[in-house]
Amino acid sequence: MHVDLQEIMLSEQQIKAKVQELGQRISQDYRGESVVLIGILKGSVIFLADLVRCISVPVVFDFMAVSSYGSGTQSSGVVRVLKDLDHSITGKHVLIVEDIVDTGLTLNYLINNLKSRGAASLKVCTLLDKPERRKVNIQIDYHGFSIPDQFVVGYGLDFNSNYRNFPYIAVLKPAVYQN
Ligand code: PRP
Repeated sequence: MHVDLQEIMLSEQQIKAKVQELGQRISQDYRGESVVLIGILKGSVIFLADLVRCISVPVVFDFMAVSSYGSGTQSSGVVRVLKDLDHSITGKHVLIVEDIVDTGLTLNYLINNLKSRGAASLKVCTLLDKPERRKVNIQIDYHGFSIPDQFVVGYGLDFNSNYRNFPYIAVLKPAVYQN
């Protein structure tokens, strides 16, 4: 294990099993349809890449990049779009894919933004959820793991752009981010 890590919270095997379960549920729910997965850069990339390979209905995927205005680690809820979708979602079944829902402010903005574009349906899938941190109520349709309010990295999640490549999700040592 990397020296900056305190403990592994979710192993590679636990994540793999959960992603397969989510992919099967999504495949059943969208049977006879096709679905547009929208990955929110950059954290969702690893999850989305594994998830699409567990979905058996026709899939296309697109990406958005957003940045929240705020001081330090505190999100203000005001979101700026850095990269918009490449294609229209009008009339499509859309599934937003996130690595983690924390305060819910990013997703709240994205849901409202995407709702206004005339999708046939709009649902949300997240691998991780920190319910203790929620500031706005969000309906999560596909939900991997609820986790406690600890600083986690790996499987797409970062601290200062590092650790995204770890195949598991681990708790970062407080000394690493308190410096
Ligand atoms: C993370 C995560 C969500 C957002 C969740 O992204 O991927 O998009 O924060 O936080 P919220 O529920 O409090 O709004 P981040 O801004 O860290 O960017 P990244 O995906 O590029 O790491």
